[in-house]
Amino acid sequence: MNSKNKNIFDYSKIKSAKDLEEIVSSIFCSEDLDKEQKKYKILGRNGLIQEFFDNFSYIQNILNIERSDLGIILNRIKSEYTEKLKDEIQDTRNNTNNTFDPTLEYKNQLIGGKHPLSVEVSKINEIMISLGFSEEEYPTLVTDFENFESINIPKEHPARDMWDTFWIDEKHLLKTQTTAFQNSILSRELKKGNDFKPIRAFTTDVCLRNEATDTRHEICFYQTEALYVEHNNSVNMVILLNLIRSVFSLYFDNSNIKVKTRPAFFPFVEPGIEVACECIFCGGKGCNTCSQSGWIEMGGAGLVHRNVFMNADESLKDKYSEYSGLAFGFGFDRMVLLKNKINDIRYFRNKDINIDLFKNTVK
Ligand code: DAH
Repeated sequence: MNSKNKNIFDYSKIKSAKDLEEIVSSIFCSEDLDKEQKKYKILGRNGLIQEFFDNFSYIQNILNIERSDLGIILNRIKSEYTEKLKDEIQDTRNNTNNTFDPTLEYKNQLIGGKHPLSVEVSKINEIMISLGFSEEEYPTLVTDFENFESINIPKEHPARDMWDTFWIDEKHLLKTQTTAFQNSILSRELKKGNDFKPIRAFTTDVCLRNEATDTRHEICFYQTEALYVEHNNSVNMVILLNLIRSVFSLYFDNSNIKVKTRPAFFPFVEPGIEVACECIFCGGKGCNTCSQSGWIEMGGAGLVHRNVFMNADESLKDKYSEYSGLAFGFGFDRMVLLKNKINDIRYFRNKDINIDLFKNTVK
């Protein structure tokens, strides 16, 4: 007998061609096997029919029939079961009792939309572009140098406490502020020397902070940051305040929006200011969302600090005053919150789709 024989059954019990068919049929009718297993066992490369062919002469001897007759019998069994197993598979595909209909119309269901924050990010980006700024993409994972040292927050400086974050290792962290993008743009552009072209750059990106959350604070939020630099002394607070007013009136679609600024310390600007908008929930009277102040803080701004220039290009040591610049950084989620009268910043990243903002965007 052929050594390839895989199915150990008693060939001596095979008396006629019918017995061959019965062996195959017993596998086909087995309730312990599914279609694929039956197909494998009967028609597979090491299956029963192949085994009969491998032991052709042996079986021919037992049955005592002509070679050609056995060939006809085996080929008939083979095509019969090829057909049967094929039919079985087709049967389940055409099964009319199957309740799943992939063509079923999908009615009255909410379909996905862009996340409201993504929709709003596109709007603020368009506004910045319309004001002549170009978008700079910047990674979320940054170095200590980009996020702190280059923008005048040396190691151990107490100002670092304002931006506690998630550290990946001693050198790398998740960006706490979009201000981290300033150094790379400045060093790229300032090094052009006489070919320097005025900088009008912005980024809107995710920042992360290790923060106790409340109605206005989240650990993850967007910021929109702008950097505007000239190779002369022309940049001043008037330009900055006008720019801030333009951005707010365009984004809120309201040229009468009340914006308040007051002096504030940010290590990367001198002077620095804090920017707030009137609280729309109480009309400036004071409520829970604005901590009874009547104003909601949007972020900071100021004129670029000389150390920021010098950290970008050491050769500027005696020449940094040839340049002047301004920058602002706004918590963009807060702007979206105010515009859409959402009274808790945490809604943006939870699963409640019933707030108006979500209804507006889910069609
Ligand atoms: N990076 C500051 C923050 O996250 C915001 C800020 C303040 C950005 C003043 C600026 C600026 O560009 O000039 O709190």
